[in-house]
Amino acid sequence: MTRYALITGASSGIGLAMAEALARRGRNLILVARQRDRLESIAIELTQRFGVEVLFRACDLGEPLRLSGFLLELEEGERQIDLLVNCAGIGTSGPFLGQDWMTEQDLIEVNILALTRLCHAIGNSMALLGGGQILNVASIAAFQPGPWMSTYYASKAYVLHFSEALRVELKKCSIKVSVLCPGPTRTGFFSRAQMDEQKLIDSKLLMSPEEVALYAVRALDRNRAIIIPGRRNRWLAALPRLGSRWLVRTIAGMINKAYCPR
Ligand SMILES: NC(=O)c1ccc[n+]([C@@H]2O[C@H](COP(=O)([O-])OP(=O)(O)OC[C@H]3O[C@@H](n4cnc5c(N)ncnc54)[C@H](OP(=O)(O)O)[C@@H]3O)[C@@H](O)[C@H]2O)c1
Repeated sequence: MTRYALITGASSGIGLAMAEALARRGRNLILVARQRDRLESIAIELTQRFGVEVLFRACDLGEPLRLSGFLLELEEGERQIDLLVNCAGIGTSGPFLGQDWMTEQDLIEVNILALTRLCHAIGNSMALLGGGQILNVASIAAFQPGPWMSTYYASKAYVLHFSEALRVELKKCSIKVSVLCPGPTRTGFFSRAQMDEQKLIDSKLLMSPEEVALYAVRALDRNRAIIIPGRRNRWLAALPRLGSRWLVRTIAGMINKAYCPR
């Protein structure tokens, strides 16, 4: 049976960079996101450049019924997935009460529910087949509460804690679970989350998605539990443990407010 790495959010940003980094290593891929045309051209390009098999599936992970259909196809297709990269994610910014509810619901569906369901379905197949590896993408936002991006930060805290817990549970099934916590990265994420991208670019805080992916792939080889690319980001992730929770949430709120135009 041919083995594949399944990557969600592979149409852009960190997910796309992960797809390229894995294809470079000779991995066959299944790419998932909503934009079918983007996925198709990425699949053609990666196949031509690296000679690997690249399948793709357009699926809105925010729609549970579509996700069910996709999972059923995977089950029937008898393709062995030995690496799952849950990278699809969205952000919202601004005052919680002023958010459009459907956008908040989408965030929870994609960042939390779809990720959890994919871990459950594909984790069970991996267990039957004797093992595998899961990489869930959280963020350095996972290490503290984030006023003015409340649901996003909370969703990433969920991903961090869920992944760490699964790592312990799934060890006996030979499934290695890691969580990637990038800091600010140069992708379309900020404009999609309605944040002031220019301020971040000016602050020179951003890493490139390729740097993040390369670091992640090397850390996966070493089966690292929590993967934080960049020394500055490792500091930022450690700082909340040093201050009082009042101070931490106040500072996080001040920073987020500066990047939220509304
Ligand atoms: N950029 C950063 O600074 C940063 C920092 C820390 C963590 N992260 C995390 O990294 C991950 C990737 O983000 P990114 O920065 O690479 O942003 P991005 O370029 O906006 O990528 C997001 C990806 O998720 C997919 N996606 C969004 N909604 C989806 C849905 N409903 N169904 C299926 N796919 C969906 C998008 O594809 P389609 O539009 O084609 O569906 C896209 O491929 C996210 O989980 C994000 O929270 C980002």
